[in-house]
Amino acid sequence: MARDIKIVGVVGLGTMGAGIVEVFAKAGLQVVAVDGTPELADRGRGFLTRSLDRAVSRGKLEAATRDEIVGRVTFADQLTRLSGADLVIEAVPERMEIKNDIFATLDGIIAEDAILASNTSSLSLTEIAAHTRHPSRVIGMHFFNPAPVLALVEVITTLFTDDELSGAIRSLAERLGKQPVVVSDRAGFVANALLITYLARAIRTYETGHVSREDLDNAGKLGIGLPMGPLTLCDLIGLDVIKEVCDVLYNATHDPAAAPPALLTQMVIAGRLGRKTGRGFYTYE
Ligand code: CAA
Repeated sequence: MARDIKIVGVVGLGTMGAGIVEVFAKAGLQVVAVDGTPELADRGRGFLTRSLDRAVSRGKLEAATRDEIVGRVTFADQLTRLSGADLVIEAVPERMEIKNDIFATLDGIIAEDAILASNTSSLSLTEIAAHTRHPSRVIGMHFFNPAPVLALVEVITTLFTDDELSGAIRSLAERLGKQPVVVSDRAGFVANALLITYLARAIRTYETGHVSREDLDNAGKLGIGLPMGPLTLCDLIGLDVIKEVCDVLYNATHDPAAAPPALLTQMVIAGRLGRKTGRGFYTYE
């Protein structure tokens, strides 16, 4: 019988992790939010409070509700603080060795029947699970940026995952007000397999120089009906993340459409990662 999920741990408080904390806390769950240092934990707290303050100032959230939401979250810099969690979701950088380390540590901290989830957008869930002590309790729970706004959660299952666990995570996603889709572990899962080839093609189109970045974005936004133009979306997602997904997709499929464009690779090397570094295809304050 799957355990009742009341306390959720989130590890890694960057853009995605902080957004995921907000989603869980807004849905009434207790959250223990952990990053590697006190400064990173504070940065995560800052992301949460700024996002909620923005909602208050736009008249979308009562100040008292904001305080209740913040009150459900404990920020910490030690994984041991997750010992009471029913579910831990990891949202750390996309490097297998970092994830494996965190999952190995969590294996020794959380209860036998607690769930280990990953928000990975590019790595193999099967490989992550295979490195843990109980692979059957590992599952993907992939949110989309901005996590508090976008409704999709991909629930990623592996050969180890039992139906009861995927059912429990599907129900949890619904409890969060999200729309889950269940997908087995394949490069890019579903959404990124579709989206990232489109974004890579947009970068290649921009590289040819026959259209300006603004006009290219307008074509995607006004002609194709997506909420943002492709280059603006690249900056939102992070060019490093896009490159990682391109690499994984290309290595798995050898589909030339998924090959990372030269400009993308160069921008990543140059540290122009998009909004999070203040500069990508556009510049940000
Ligand atoms: N955190 C919290 N709320 C946010 C937010 C954020 N970062 N950004 C926007 N919002 C909220 C706003 O407060 C606003 O809320 P209300 O409607 O309640 O007022 C709402 O979202 C709309 O925002 P805006 O009016 O400022 O702007 P918008 O209408 O242009 O919407 C957007 C902004 C939601 C980002 C929209 O442009 C959008 O959906 N863009 C596409 C994003 C997308 O495709 N993301 C998927 C990326 S792929 C991915 O993440 C997976 C991966 O693994 C790479």
